[in-house]
Amino acid sequence: MPTDSTPRHILVTSALPYANGPIHLGHLVEYIQTDIWVRFQKLQGHHCTYVCADDAHGTPIMLNAQKLGITPEQLIAQTDKEHRADFAGFLIEFDNYHSTHSNENRELAEYIYQQLQTKGYIVSRTIQRPYDDSKQMFLPDRFIKGECPRCGAADQYGDSCEVCHATYSPSELKNPRSTLSGTTPSNKDTTQFFFELGKLETQLRQWTKAGTLQPAIAHKLEEWFMVGLQDWEISRDAPYWGFEIPAAPGKYFYVWLDAPIGYMASFKNLCAKRQDLKFADYWNADSRHEVYHFIGKDIAYFHTLFWPAMLHAAGFRMPSAVYCHGFLTVNGLKMSKSRGTFIKARTYLDHLNPEYLRYYFAAKLGNEIDDLDLNLEDFTQRVNADLVGKVVNIASRCAMFINKYFDNQLCPVTGETLLLSQFSHALPLIADDYAQRAFSSAIRRIMALADSANQYIDAQKPWALIKQSDQTAKVQQICSVGLNLFRILIGALKPVLPALCSQAESFLNITPLTWNDLSRPLGPHRINEFTSLLSRIEPAKVTAMVDASKEDLAPSSTPGQTPRPESEPLKAEISIDDFGKIDLRIAKIISASHVEGADKLLQLSVDLGEGTLRNIFAGIRSAYDPKTLEGRFTVVVANLAPRKMKFGLSEGMVLAAGPGGKDLWILSPDSGAQPGMRVK
Ligand code: 2FM
Ligand code: ZN
Repeated sequence: MPTDSTPRHILVTSALPYANGPIHLGHLVEYIQTDIWVRFQKLQGHHCTYVCADDAHGTPIMLNAQKLGITPEQLIAQTDKEHRADFAGFLIEFDNYHSTHSNENRELAEYIYQQLQTKGYIVSRTIQRPYDDSKQMFLPDRFIKGECPRCGAADQYGDSCEVCHATYSPSELKNPRSTLSGTTPSNKDTTQFFFELGKLETQLRQWTKAGTLQPAIAHKLEEWFMVGLQDWEISRDAPYWGFEIPAAPGKYFYVWLDAPIGYMASFKNLCAKRQDLKFADYWNADSRHEVYHFIGKDIAYFHTLFWPAMLHAAGFRMPSAVYCHGFLTVNGLKMSKSRGTFIKARTYLDHLNPEYLRYYFAAKLGNEIDDLDLNLEDFTQRVNADLVGKVVNIASRCAMFINKYFDNQLCPVTGETLLLSQFSHALPLIADDYAQRAFSSAIRRIMALADSANQYIDAQKPWALIKQSDQTAKVQQICSVGLNLFRILIGALKPVLPALCSQAESFLNITPLTWNDLSRPLGPHRINEFTSLLSRIEPAKVTAMVDASKEDLAPSSTPGQTPRPESEPLKAEISIDDFGKIDLRIAKIISASHVEGADKLLQLSVDLGEGTLRNIFAGIRSAYDPKTLEGRFTVVVANLAPRKMKFGLSEGMVLAAGPGGKDLWILSPDSGAQPGMRVK
């Protein structure tokens, strides 16, 4: 890394989120951490580029799309929109956001694979893999469940036990079953491609010793080297959602092969839009530019072994460093859907200002891999005390006098050299903290400065001096010092709080701050009227966010909200013409009874108007005593083709909603509706 003041060329990435679910606060630790670091580098005047993408391939995405009745392309397009909106909401400022399902990624993945093949790093081997005969597909480990081979815990995944944390292969599970069909998987032969990682051990060892890794991760790598580097299976059989491997019909690149290549692909996509960026300058083997990956500690193996090995073997540069972070806990525990602490980015944004969370995470993030706890009470207190009570308070206290008595005019600051030099001496230390990702240390220093500024104002008592006519110039001086100190604080917080800083720049009537501006105080200068820059966190909003996170799981009748159980995502969009084909009618239930041998069904006879009676079998037995239904009006699909069931012909469908069991409700029209009326 260059040490002179020449601007550096830095490419930064965060891990690519799967295009298969919403962004939540656990993800945001990483994106906020990376965004702060990138904003800091830019503020320093470096050429820093931040790219990311959706990780759009793999079996879970394929199956989820199937479940939704849409294509994987439709699913990833929809998720792409949601992810972009969530990131923008949290002020995560990517220079480019792309997808691994892109032309750039296909070309790069094929190129890298061909290089590995040509250089003798790929072998093919026939192995046995768990196979679901009824679904006719090989099963990824996560789609097999059974009893843990070590502790016997039931319902554990095929790769690891959540109870005793043992890791194993699916073949070791007792009583394994496919989560797709419930059947027992068989073992089937398949020929796959493997990347011979062990051939690159020397280069990997060198790379890990070059200061590229945090001590804890370097230590972990030592362990992995000791155990020995295993060949890595980089292909999967159809049906698979991903890129088909050239000259290997029916074989696809495993999602983890093309995922990190997505970093390059997103950058390549950006290069096509930006004259100043050249792909080769950043990725050629002899590049002098810097490349950093921010990731969670759980995916260190992929990023510190497979990825640098692939890059090196294919003739590209290796990353300058890989920075890992820990996991997020909320109130000291793993995020939990039932406790309402599995909080989606969107749910947070519906209730709270994103900069509260950016600040709190920054205040707690160090440069090691410790887990980070979001304690919701501490979060509220800390944001209110630090940002509102300390930082913004300086501005509001001083602006009050400058706006009211001095026609918004600041005077040049004279005197107070000790205080001002305390601030300017702290700036390089704060910068160093940011550069080292020791954000919690940077925040501690900034808050200590804010304390000093407040103590200065307290000691000077401008509110008392203003009452003495010969002291007005002194008040202007005190408040000008105070606002200059505020300007430094806000500049130092700019990477963390870009929106607050931008509002403060408008209030101070200054151009966007850079780091170098901070040590030069303002001369005579006119500011604007002070308006509130940040409001306190109201604890009720935090509670509402937690409640809403609980409601994400269970249906509720809270007005204004449309929660839906996560297990029942929206189906594919249909056209109005499709909808027009469904003939919904009001029906009167004439009789209802249990069905012998069917524990879920009730047999209904319904009147569709003008004496048209229909026989319908409805799966609502768990929720209704049949006698209570007789005489009730409800809604049925009247033009559904009759279906022959084991118990007789069903000539329509009764509409009902709810997760099941007792919580299932048939639809009831308002009074006035009559049998046969069309529902429009
Ligand atoms: O673990 C995950 O969420 C992966 N989608 C991360 C991929 S990072 C990179 F390799 F693409
Ligand atoms: Zn176990």
